[in-house]
Amino acid sequence: MIKGFKNAVELDFSVEENRRKLEEAFQQVNAEKGKTYPLIIGGEKIETEKKITSLSPATKEVLGYACSCSRELADKAIQTADEAFKTWSRTPAEERIRCLRRLTRLIEENRFILDAWNVEESGKNWGEADGELCEALDFFNSYAMHMANLDKGLELVPTDELTKCIYIPIGVGAIIPPWNFPLSICGGMVTAALVTGNSVICKPSSDTPIVAYKFVELCLKAGFPAGTINYIPGSGSEIGDYIVEHPRTRFINFTGSKAVGCRINEKAAKVADGQIWLKRVVAEMGGKNAIIVDSTANIKKAAAGVASSAFTFQGQKCSACSRALVMSDVYDEFVEEVVKCAKDLKEHQGSGASNAPMGPVINQAAYDSITGYIEVGRKEGKIVYGGTYSDTEGFYIDPTVIRDVDKDARIANEEIFGPVLAVVKVDSFDEALAIANQTEYGLTGSVYSETREHIQKAKVEFQVGNLYFNRKSTAAVVLQHPFGGFNMSGTDAKTGTSDYLTNFLNLKSVTEDL
Ligand code: SER
Repeated sequence: MIKGFKNAVELDFSVEENRRKLEEAFQQVNAEKGKTYPLIIGGEKIETEKKITSLSPATKEVLGYACSCSRELADKAIQTADEAFKTWSRTPAEERIRCLRRLTRLIEENRFILDAWNVEESGKNWGEADGELCEALDFFNSYAMHMANLDKGLELVPTDELTKCIYIPIGVGAIIPPWNFPLSICGGMVTAALVTGNSVICKPSSDTPIVAYKFVELCLKAGFPAGTINYIPGSGSEIGDYIVEHPRTRFINFTGSKAVGCRINEKAAKVADGQIWLKRVVAEMGGKNAIIVDSTANIKKAAAGVASSAFTFQGQKCSACSRALVMSDVYDEFVEEVVKCAKDLKEHQGSGASNAPMGPVINQAAYDSITGYIEVGRKEGKIVYGGTYSDTEGFYIDPTVIRDVDKDARIANEEIFGPVLAVVKVDSFDEALAIANQTEYGLTGSVYSETREHIQKAKVEFQVGNLYFNRKSTAAVVLQHPFGGFNMSGTDAKTGTSDYLTNFLNLKSVTEDL
């Protein structure tokens, strides 16, 4: 079934032409800075008085202003999506797939400008931005392929009756994506719902509304009918609960923090007046991911993998490693190696636009929270590298390694979502597994070991949605490493898969006596 699917390939920025095109795109972004982005409801662009300011995390410069949606307009967006659903849900899958294929082409055509906006708005570097764009393309291509298969319906036992069992769309979805993958996660969440015949309202993160706006514009250009996709940035307190609780909302697709995910789940569970269904919630909610390093591991390789998982994109991936659980006999050697890697990254710290391997964290609130955890860590362990930070120009936090952290320390159990690594000493592999599993999360995990017995044991006992061996815990590739976590990491909806699409479909069994 996967025959014919190929993952997109990242651009090579050592090629002069690619560098030049991206530099030109940055110039275009510079020329567009300070613009206002309206809401898009039913294809209509609506300006509102209240604005959300999109700031560059690298320089605090204003990138633009997104109009902020009120409750009244959110209601209008839901009604509009509901109306559009009537036609879109009956539009043949073939036509919906055609729109998605066209979107894929448009994303490719706009690759450099999308990369440039992503770099500016999320603070990631060139490679990370283009890697994200590839992930978006992979999601779109995989969902187009899966939809074509699902459209055939379920295979049934032949009988004397005329029977079929077909997938049908379910309604209006509230899409609430995160800022850390403003193109691929937002795009994947939106297109999975659209290609299955649903209509959506998309409330992007207030940190990255411009990338989301550009994406929604391309969706409309690709032919998804006006009203099937509506763009409504807004504050959580003004419209967040409102769109979740609305009786016409059929499902919520959310990626973000555990706190918000739990709140959404609770609000969505309550049946509103006039509501005739139980809402579905698809949620991806972060992690407190551990990497185990045992005595037989290649320590240099393990340290490089841990540092990459903990510090790239400043540790702001839900898949990021924030706990290294290391056997006592290799502990000092590991710490020494991981510090070398952190030092190397620190030397190359800078803005995403300068293509530095490590850049800023997303905003002031994140900076305050992460640096707060660093101060907690100063007491809970020994900072052997980093622990320094500055928000004078942008939100920069040095890669921070804290050793001798107790397994029950706060920094070993609470999600930090920043470039902070807690290193915990363990005396046995069983102890490492027990600590790895002791958090409420269960997203990613990794083991560096050359001991077959340990690897087999971890395959059974390490309770995470994405488990890796002798490899970093980040950078899942679509249809190579289906991504999604257990427990408080979310509903384990594995993105990029056919299963993922069934979250947005009902099965209708139709029988005719002959
Ligand atoms: N899928 C990303 C990764 O694997 C995180 O969202 O790193």
